[in-house]
Amino acid sequence: IVYPDMLSASKNVAKRIADIIKQKAAEGKQAILGLATGATPVTVYNELVRLHKEEGLSFKNVVSFNLDEYFPMAPTAAQSYKVFMYKHLFSHVDIDPENVHIPDGALKQDDVAAFCVAYEQKITAYGGLDLQVLGIGRTGHIGFNEPGSAPNSGTRLVSLDELTRSDAAHDFGGKAGVPVKAITMGIGTIFKAREIILMAWSAKKAEIIKKAVEGEVSADIPATYLQHSDHVEFVLDTGAASAL
Ligand code: GLP
Repeated sequence: IVYPDMLSASKNVAKRIADIIKQKAAEGKQAILGLATGATPVTVYNELVRLHKEEGLSFKNVVSFNLDEYFPMAPTAAQSYKVFMYKHLFSHVDIDPENVHIPDGALKQDDVAAFCVAYEQKITAYGGLDLQVLGIGRTGHIGFNEPGSAPNSGTRLVSLDELTRSDAAHDFGGKAGVPVKAITMGIGTIFKAREIILMAWSAKKAEIIKKAVEGEVSADIPATYLQHSDHVEFVLDTGAASAL
């Protein structure tokens, strides 16, 4: 779906999320949401905060699982995805902090594998993700599933691509400060979500969106795996769609 601009696109994605939350609440159920970081979803989170403040949208029945986190990463560090999520969404709505799940960048390396297995099990125990929102990196990564990621991969520790680390450099005072690893949900984890929405804004993403949507499905561009999903929607602005 191509919208004329990022704001109208973001409002529509936020409305979809709000509809799931409200529908689940009406059924007396929890809404299990897979959330993303990066600049792309910020406008969606802004709109969700507005819906909470102005239209009474409650997050009391929301259980969230974030896609990824740098490793190592102190949860209180400015660049941590935990700080990001509280800053842009969780601090402004009535979500129960007990229902917030974000990969833990402060684990000892030896404990990461067990944490990843438990993260997958927790998602399954909640009955799976109702919706996963995604951005896309210039390497074609979703979450931090960099080129080479297997289609059935689960939550795990990965090495970040050099291009991804360059793109993150401004947040870390230079590339040397960007962690070399991250914990990410896998492609397989993402695929199990009942609905997937990938968002991209601006012409800067046009080339990778073209590859993701029209290119050959390959581990070289992990987002191409989404071509095999029958429950994925790409939500783009005209810039991001301009090479299609
Ligand atoms: C990071 C995140 C991804 C995100 C990507 C794109 O690498 N781990 O989940 O999709 O950046 O970021 P942006 O939305 O800032 O372009």
